Amino acid sequence: MGKLNILPVSKGDFKQIMKFLFDLKVFPKDELEVAKEVLRDSLILKEKSEYKVLVAKINGDLAGFICYGLASLSKHTYDLYWIAVSKKYQRQNIGTMLIERCEKEIKKSGAKIFLVETSSTKKYEKARNFYEKMGFKKLVEIKNYYKNRDDKIIYIKYFNGGK
Ligand SMILES: CC(C)(COP(=O)(O)OP(=O)(O)OC[C@H]1O[C@@H](n2cnc3c(N)ncnc32)[C@H](O)[C@@H]1OP(=O)(O)O)[C@@H](O)C(=O)NCCC(=O)NCCS
Repeated sequence: MGKLNILPVSKGDFKQIMKFLFDLKVFPKDELEVAKEVLRDSLILKEKSEYKVLVAKINGDLAGFICYGLASLSKHTYDLYWIAVSKKYQRQNIGTMLIERCEKEIKKSGAKIFLVETSSTKKYEKARNFYEKMGFKKLVEIKNYYKNRDDKIIYIKYFNGGK
């Protein structure tokens, strides 16, 4: 693996991110549309956007991205909205480095609680394993939330004396 850089998203990354999210074949079409809006918001409003996006690049190649932000109406709870690593670069620690960098940033801003939601289906098994490895604990499972036999699982992690 070449040199890895983690940096704020820039306009030139937009097409590459959308292509690699599409190629992952994990996210349904409506979720890809939301990703598009979130990326646009982040690129246009920059620091003022509620969505922060960091990208991981290897020799200029877009290997992954993470999107997070302060939860609305909270002073110190952050949501992890998305994390994805392209197939070619999965299981090479890039997701771990993206989470570590994101946590460093949110801790600087006083984060005490970090939340992430995912689905109980097979497609998201990697993601569930990943969150657990990253120290998130399962907080709640909402049965049939997305559809029958597709539960919502909320994971939580505390920092800075959050709990
Ligand atoms: C989840 C995801 C971001 C992980 O990124 P990654 O760079 O491959 O993860 P890492 O290499 O840092 O792995 C860290 C740990 O996560 C777990 N993990 C990652 N991929 C896994 C897999 N395929 N199977 C089981 N556990 C896995 C392991 O515990 C791993 O540690 P280990 O390699 O020491 O066993 C990546 O698989 C992905 O993009 N998946 C598709 C998109 C997605 O589902 N995103 C989350 C929902 S928004």
